[in-house]
Amino acid sequence: MMRVLSGIQPSGTIHLGNYLGAIRNWVAEQHEDAYYCVVDLHSLTLPIEPSELRENTLECAASLLASGIDPERCTFFLQSHVPYHPQLAWLLECVATMGELNRMTQYKEKSEKSQGKVGLFTYPVLMAADILLYDAVSVPVGDDQRQHIELARNLAERFNTRYGPTFVVPEGAIPTAGARVMDLQQPERKMSKSVSSPLGTISLLDGADDVVKKVKKAVTDTDGDVRYDRVAKPGISNLLEILAALTNSTPQGIAEHFERYGDLKMAVAEAITNTFRPVQERYETYMADPAELRRVMSIGADRASLVAAETYRRAAAAVGLIN
Ligand code: AMP
Ligand code: TRP
Repeated sequence: MMRVLSGIQPSGTIHLGNYLGAIRNWVAEQHEDAYYCVVDLHSLTLPIEPSELRENTLECAASLLASGIDPERCTFFLQSHVPYHPQLAWLLECVATMGELNRMTQYKEKSEKSQGKVGLFTYPVLMAADILLYDAVSVPVGDDQRQHIELARNLAERFNTRYGPTFVVPEGAIPTAGARVMDLQQPERKMSKSVSSPLGTISLLDGADDVVKKVKKAVTDTDGDVRYDRVAKPGISNLLEILAALTNSTPQGIAEHFERYGDLKMAVAEAITNTFRPVQERYETYMADPAELRRVMSIGADRASLVAAETYRRAAAAVGLIN
């Protein structure tokens, strides 16, 4: 079995991009030896109220379980419950360089909002620690995480060269369709939890009426031709990709089935609601029982800690810390 690890920030409601780019692939990989975590420490890199972080974390955990993450088949946990994550991040910070962190595009995009906080700058190193602690071979993520995965690989290789074989060098697993779902109102920007365009983002918890409304209003173009061309037709291409991802097909193949934008939009809205409806029903069940959520997460933390402790000790010993 292959060791798989991934994480998601509890910074807002999970959206269609998270679902297609990451979560459904997490579910698909559960037959492997999978570790999935809600990376709550990462959410502290941008301003967030304590009460909001608490609520988001429970909602995020419930959403993942409702999406099909099965805590009996994988190890599902909260990052902050396993203190080895920031501990290993420290060892890796002493291997990482300012120069390589300066090159991270996500940092550049978000830095205005973080008001110069150091945590946002070093965040990719914490992400590398999340991955390397579990000897993960495969990391299912969306396209926007490519650069962070590359950094994790570089840090692992540098550490291994400097201190001897310690870490497994991971690979990103980025899906062919749905790896970069775009904002429906601004199809040149990726769909995101933080964007203040509620019409452009489809939440996992949106009801059918909202989904239909948002998809109908999705920005397209005026040439009236249903064709896949990300550059010339970003809006239509985004809808084609969404439908392709939801139906395990290709955007080019889907385009052949539609002549009118309106018909394509109705099919996209229907595919989304059909996928999300059962998830929303299960979500309510999980949210109604927070004690059960906590129980599940505490079992996950115990399991994750066993693996993380072992790797951390190996890394600590390698750099010369006395175990
Ligand atoms: P985040 O919301 O930044 O914690 O992202 C959680 C996961 O969702 C990561 O694997 C991201 O790469 C993925 N993701 C986030 N936004 C999108 C998007 N618009 N399209 C596809 N995947 C995404
Ligand atoms: N940085 C990722 C994001 O913003 C979330 C993340 C944190 C992650 N740790 C991870 C993803 C480890 C994969 C593996 O989406």
